[in-house]
Parts: sequence; C-alpha cells; structure tokens
Amino acid sequence: MSETKAESTLPTLDALVTLCKRRGFIFQSSEIYGGYAGFFDYGPLGAELKKNVKDAWWQAMVHERDDIVGLDSTIIMHPEIWHASGHVGGFNDPMVDCKESKKRYRADQLFFSPVKVDGKVIGYVSVEESGTMQAEAEEKAAEMKRKQAVQGTLDAIELKDYTEAAEEEYELIPSPATGKPGSLTPPRQFNLMFETQVGPLADASSTSYLRPETAQGIFQNFKNVVDTGRVKIPFGIAQIGKAFRNEITPRNFIFRSREFEQMEIEYFIDPDEATWPRVYREWIDTCKAWLVSIGIPEEMVSEDVHPQDKLSHYSKGTTDLMFTFPFGTQELWGIACRGNFDLTQHQKHSTKSMELFDEARKEKYIPHVVEPSLGVDRTVLAVLTAAYCEDEVPNDKGKPEKRTLLKFDPSIAPFKAAVFPLLKNKPELVEKARGLYKQLQRRWNVSWDVSGAIGRRYRRQDEIGTPYCITIDFDTIEKDDTVTVRDRDTTEQIRLPITEVEGWLAEKIYG
Ligand code: GAP
Repeated sequence: MSETKAESTLPTLDALVTLCKRRGFIFQSSEIYGGYAGFFDYGPLGAELKKNVKDAWWQAMVHERDDIVGLDSTIIMHPEIWHASGHVGGFNDPMVDCKESKKRYRADQLFFSPVKVDGKVIGYVSVEESGTMQAEAEEKAAEMKRKQAVQGTLDAIELKDYTEAAEEEYELIPSPATGKPGSLTPPRQFNLMFETQVGPLADASSTSYLRPETAQGIFQNFKNVVDTGRVKIPFGIAQIGKAFRNEITPRNFIFRSREFEQMEIEYFIDPDEATWPRVYREWIDTCKAWLVSIGIPEEMVSEDVHPQDKLSHYSKGTTDLMFTFPFGTQELWGIACRGNFDLTQHQKHSTKSMELFDEARKEKYIPHVVEPSLGVDRTVLAVLTAAYCEDEVPNDKGKPEKRTLLKFDPSIAPFKAAVFPLLKNKPELVEKARGLYKQLQRRWNVSWDVSGAIGRRYRRQDEIGTPYCITIDFDTIEKDDTVTVRDRDTTEQIRLPITEVEGWLAEKIYG
C-alpha cells in the first residue's frame, strides 16, 4: 500500500512559498515596491490552478446538481446590507498593540500564562498562537526560572488568550516582540471591513464597504432568484467571488490574507426542526467528498464541531472542516446552520418580504439556511500542501537524483500534459509533436517543451505538477505511430498509438 500524506512528512511553509515563487504560482503583491502585507498575486501557473479549483467546485455544486443555481453579485453593495447583517456593529476582532515595538496582535491569538514555582508567581510569559506555542511557553518559563535562580518546581503552564486576561494582568504580561512587560495595550475591538466612498463627495453618507463575505450578495438577491429562477425548497444559491477583510495579522502565506476569494452556498430549507440536522450532515459529507475528489487525502481533513455555548445566538450548529496545513490543523471550510437570521434581518431593514410560499407544505415562511463557506485561496494552499512531495529517481545517467514534485489530481493540474519532440533539431519530430500538441490544446491547457535533455524536461514538469509527459520519438515517425507517455508519480512509461492519446487523457482527467 502506498504511503499516505499524513504518514509522510508535510512540507514546510517555506518550501511551498519558495516553490510557488520559483515556478510562478504565487507572488507577494507589489513586490517591486517591497510587497504589501496580506495581498498575493497568482502567476501563470497559480492562475490556472486556482481557476481549475473554482471550475471543479462550480461543476460539482452547480452544474451537476438540480437544486443549486449560480449568482455573481457586486463587491460593493448598499451599505445598509452591512448594518442588517450585523457586520457594521459586530464584525470585529480584538486587537492589541505593543507600544514599544509598534507590533500589532490579534488578542485572541496572543497567549499568556503566569509562571509559577511551587505555586508562587515569578513572572509571566507570552507567545503567539502556533502549533508549538505550549512548548515555546514552557521553554520561556524554564528560562525565566533559570535567570531568576529560583529553586523549586515549575507549575504547569496553562495558556489563556489575551482577551481572558484580567485588567491587572495587562501590565504584567510581556510583549512577545520585546519579552518585556508593560508595553501591551488592553484589547480593543477593530472592525475588519474596508471602507470606501461611493460618489464624488467623501462624507459619512457616502461611506460604503468592500464585502467581507460573498454571502450577503446571495441573501439580498434571494427574492430575485425565487421570482425568476424556477426554484423550490430545498434549493441553494452558489457564488464565487472576492472578499476583503482588513485582517489585523494576515499570515501563513495565502491562508489568511486581506483580499481573498470565497466559494459560498446558501442552501435554503424549510423551518421544520427535523430538517436542518439532516441537511447539515449531508452538507458536511458533500464538502468532504468534494475535497477528496480534487485530490485532498481524506486523512488530512477532520471535523471541528463548535460547542453550543460558542455559537452566535441565531446559529443552530457549525462544523469546520479542518485541514493539516504545514503550520498546524486549521479551518478550511465552515458549514453553518444560520436559521432564518439573515433573511429576517434583510426583511426588517429593507421592509421587503422575504417569505416564500412552499407549495409542498402549503405554507408561507422565511426559509432557514445551511451555509457551506469555503476559501478559494485556502483550498489552493491545501491542494499544494497535499501535493508537495520529494523523492529520488534515476537521472539520464541512471544515478539517483532528488526531485520535487506536485502530485496534483489531473482534474486541477495547471497543465494536463506536456508534449515533447525527443530532439528539437529534427523537424519531422517537431512537426509531429506540434500536431499532437495543437490537437490537445483545443481541449486542455498543455505544455510544450523542446529545450534540454528529456530527463530535465521531466523534472521541470514534475515540479509544476504536470501528470503526464508525452514524447514523440523516432519510433513514432519511422515505425508505428506510437508515443511514450510517462507518469509523473510512478515515472513509469507506456506506449500508446498517437490516435488514442486524447481519449486516454480524457479518461485520466474525468475518470
Ligand atoms: N459567510 C460565512 C463566512 O464568511 P468565515 O468562516 O468568516 O465565514 C469562510 O469564512 C471561509 O472563508 C473560511 O473557512 C476560509 O476558508 C475563508 N476565509 C475567511 N477569512 C479568510 C482570509 N482572511 N483569508 C483567506 N481565506 C479566508
């Protein structure tokens, strides 16, 4: 049995960032001006990968289902929408500043603990949230005990986040940046929405917002879709689009950025108390199955069920699908049962009815909703993490050579195949290869490479995740019109009649 990703080593985030830059997947935005924190650009290969992820989602969630329709709403909407949704009043993160280093932290991602020796407090330690923060805090505590030459046994370090600190503790907790206490401010609420002005006058009445989620574009169009879309309960509206959040601490590459894309569905259901738990479970399973269908190993995905006491007042249940990223297990996809909160709010603020008449139940109501909400960029990062591999294969001279490869599922790989003439200075090989390349290019994104030894060309394609390399050689033109097809993951080669290549590849891509 082949080794699973969970058993093998995960790539470091640095390895992914470096590969993404080197091979043109993802760049820091505005790099020539020193970069811009929290913004990223997708290069030629990244743009293809991201588009393939979005296309696969749209295909599975909209085209292959009879109960979901698509939507494309604007990024800037009437500001009242954000009052109705609660974002103006409550889309906040707690922020804390270090007055000395000028560093800014999210208070719920800054952890601290008193350091106690035999029950007596000798100081405080603080760490930023990470998979290794407990060990880091324990090391700092041991160091503090050593420096102060205190005898006795260290008590267990019990980390709490800074929002849980008592007022008198603010002065005692050191800033992670300086290691010294006294420079952290008390936490204060910071609204994550980007404001802008609409129209020529910049005053309070022209204040508008870049949407922090695509979902509200769906809710404000609910009536339009019901009135025009021939939909009936249960049904969903799906949308892919940009969202913007002025994150206090954008980090971990494209995991948490200030401009990102979401793929969201609002799935409308009847208000019967027996309905939502069933639909909720179905959506959790559907979402997991889709992740597996694009090549994410099931064992890298887990469920995090939010405890009842942490849910918003209107929420009946939320489960996050978590993924094992290089920096720890973190949220990839949120599936939330939001009751009829959003539509009710829009009915109240717009004074337009959000009720529909359910023919099957013969009753009028505001539908309830289950919302699976997924970040495109987080999915791209998950796909890259799952695909990244290093192994050894023989080079042109038969000597083992280290290679880096991206084992993308063919359905989302930026290039579905690469076509090579064995030699670039043999016009008959080039012409034949060019013919196949042009034929395949009509259906897929295919790579053409004539430079360097064949082994080097394989290596280049392995590193960008091209699943198949097709070589036209002398047997093709002189003997039997067959080509060599080499598999990225196993490096095994087969020969196929050139006329069968397109059908063979279609089978590999679409299954
Ligand atoms: N409409 C619900 C909603 O927006 P959310 O949990 O705030 O819920 C949904 O976001 C998904 O959007 C997350 O699970 C994540 O995949 C993605 N996401 C959220 N904030 C993000 C950020 N700053 N950068 C990248 N992706 C983000």
